[in-house]
Amino acid sequence: MGRIYDATWGRAFSALYDRALKATEEAGLREMRRRTLAAASGRTLDIGAGTGANLGLYPQAVAELVLAEPDPHMTKRLRRHAAEQGLEAEIVEAPAERLPFPDASFDTAVFTLVLCTVADPRAALAEAARVLKPGGKLLFLEHVRSRDPRLATWQDRFARPWRFVNDGCNCNRDTAANLDASPFDLESLEHERMPKAPPVVRPVVRGSATRTA
Ligand SMILES: C[S@@+](CC[C@H](N)C(=O)[O-])C[C@H]1O[C@@H](n2cnc3c(N)ncnc32)[C@H](O)[C@@H]1O
Repeated sequence: MGRIYDATWGRAFSALYDRALKATEEAGLREMRRRTLAAASGRTLDIGAGTGANLGLYPQAVAELVLAEPDPHMTKRLRRHAAEQGLEAEIVEAPAERLPFPDASFDTAVFTLVLCTVADPRAALAEAARVLKPGGKLLFLEHVRSRDPRLATWQDRFARPWRFVNDGCNCNRDTAANLDASPFDLESLEHERMPKAPPVVRPVVRGSATRTA
């Protein structure tokens, strides 16, 4: 968003993030996260891990957890939350579009509420495919452009101010289309609603995809 923005509102945004989402998490978002992450296994990469809302929700089948997050203010909180939970997770400051990992080095990659914010979602999906082993799984939980044209129009109207207040988040991004155009084979994609959230970010897609050989 820019250096001055990042040092001021970006910093405040990361400090307020957990509190801002608390009611939504408790009303069902946390359960949606848990159901999404239930399919994770092996070496797992959480991309754009934020403050660590997914920590503690990963199943036992996850042998090793790596957290990638480019924002230093978010990363500070992520480190603290991982330490508080006694989790052994590697934390790497890196953007989704340029992951500092070798090809085919993960079994699972995760995006939760991230593909709305990354600068280049198609590049981010291509990078996730690159670092996954053949047959590896992508798990996603993302708020998306509405299928209802009236709500989509409101998402377009609100997009600019929403992006400014929410640290670069695009409430009107067509992530379902980006997933369709990605190197992944979709296994499941459920349309759901984010509870207790502003209408422009209520439509959600949740599911999994496979990286073909
Ligand atoms: C709405 S937060 C979601 C955080 C977390 N995944 C969650 O589920 O709560 C969006 C996150 O995406 C991160 N982000 C922004 N640009 C990114 C990029 N290019 N690559 C990876 N993460 C990015 C932000 O720093 C922020 O932590």
